[in-house]
Amino acid sequence: MMRLYILLFIFVVGLMACNSQDVYAASDVHGHVSSLVFDPSELDLGEAVEGEKVTATLLIRNNSQGFAQIVKVESSCGCTTAEPETRMLSPGSFTALHIEVDSFGKRGDVRKSITMIDQYGEKSIAWLTLHVKPNPHAMGENRSIFDGECASCHVEPAKGKVLGSDIYKAVCVMCHGAGAKGAYAPSLLAMHDEDVLGELIANGTGTHHMPAFAQKKGGPLTQKQISVLAKWIISLDE
Ligand code: HEC
Ligand code: HEC
Repeated sequence: MMRLYILLFIFVVGLMACNSQDVYAASDVHGHVSSLVFDPSELDLGEAVEGEKVTATLLIRNNSQGFAQIVKVESSCGCTTAEPETRMLSPGSFTALHIEVDSFGKRGDVRKSITMIDQYGEKSIAWLTLHVKPNPHAMGENRSIFDGECASCHVEPAKGKVLGSDIYKAVCVMCHGAGAKGAYAPSLLAMHDEDVLGELIANGTGTHHMPAFAQKKGGPLTQKQISVLAKWIISLDE
């Protein structure tokens, strides 16, 4: 019986010990303790195309038993802004930190820090990572869409497509919009003559954005593809 009491005692003391191990604050490299912590303190923002602005929200928690004040939040880079919703936090409460990273001029794996200072001058750091892919459109203003790396998106997808709707989705929709209703390039719904339309697709309009799509002229489409595509576009308006 005595042995059972001892075991129970050890068990209860063990439980209390676990409880007191709860972490109430994060410490920085100097061993100082800030009552304010980022949650999470490492955030992967995924991928962006160069020039895109990426937004995210972190939480800032007050892990202390007193009030805490966010005195300063700053980033390692002018490209990153971080705005907390509130700066005074009651014990145990949290607030949102809205972050925006501008990927303009960046390439590859980018790592940025956000540093927060509390009213005692103690700091916490959060790390953000972002993978920035080059933007093919940033430099390509005057290039043909059939050139080099442009072709992988503007030409290749047409290969082997047999239906008008599929060909359109592969190499026209990005400029003329869904249902040929117009987007960056004009709507094609006013076209009623299959031969004229086929001729324009095959030979282009003379601009680098609307070059000749016929294979004979160095484009990606066979004569057969051009004629089913023209038929399909004409049928949209009926
Ligand atoms: C990774 C695929 C990809 C590559 C590479 C690419 N484009 Fe595009 N392009 C698109 C998509 C998708 C659109 C539709 C609009 C959008 O999403 O930006 C588009 C749209 C366009 C437009 C219409 C205007 C616009 O911005 O919406 C032009 C002009 C253009 N591309 C030219 C080019 C040129 C020139 C190159 C090579 C320097 C190129 N593209 C390389 C995918 C690509
Ligand atoms: C990179 C963007 C782009 C792509 C891709 C593109 N076009 Fe165009 N297209 C244009 C632009 C811009 C114009 C208008 C300016 C001009 O005439 O060059 C145009 C004009 C046209 C015209 C003449 C319209 C008129 O009113 O005279 C036709 C027809 C046309 N496109 C059909 C197509 C078809 C079909 C495809 C797919 C095979 C396609 N285009 C792919 C940009 C594009």
